Amino acid sequence: MNRKHTETNAAGDSEQNQPASLTESPRFAPPRTRRDFLGLAAIWTAVGACAAAVVGAMRLPMPAVFPESNPKVKLGPPDQFKIGSPSYRPDLSLWVVRDDAGLYAISTVCTHLGCIATREEDGSFSCPCHGSEFTAEGKVTGGPAPKGLNWLALSLSPDGQLVVDKVNTVKAGARFQV
Ligand code: FES
Repeated sequence: MNRKHTETNAAGDSEQNQPASLTESPRFAPPRTRRDFLGLAAIWTAVGACAAAVVGAMRLPMPAVFPESNPKVKLGPPDQFKIGSPSYRPDLSLWVVRDDAGLYAISTVCTHLGCIATREEDGSFSCPCHGSEFTAEGKVTGGPAPKGLNWLALSLSPDGQLVVDKVNTVKAGARFQV
């Protein structure tokens, strides 16, 4: 009994006599509680959200879509486009047509929401998205499209090639003479 009492005292003494640096060491820190973990998670979530907001705010002045460097594209020699043989350029979403009056380029980008209209057997166009219908000259005949298909400006390059301007339109019905 006496001996046990002495051991207890000895253990108690040794705990009290530990140097301050040892008791403050992280090795002896109490284990993290669930509440600590959730608090840290909330802090890091807030930090992440703030960082994302800052990055988003910094990107605001930048346009989401950059204008193409050169909207004019060479289509090739004009005499390759024959009467009665319209030529489709899927990369440009346009048809180049020659008739007795001259050449024209008609865009197949639907004026409703920008889907690509397809050319039917009879030369008319129909949009697969919401059903807009256009004549062969691009006039709206049905559906939600607010206006007809665009006719794109044509010109000749210095080396004699037909050039289409993907940005500038001309009045529907205007032909390019070459
Ligand atoms: S995008 Fe063509 S009808 Fe809607």
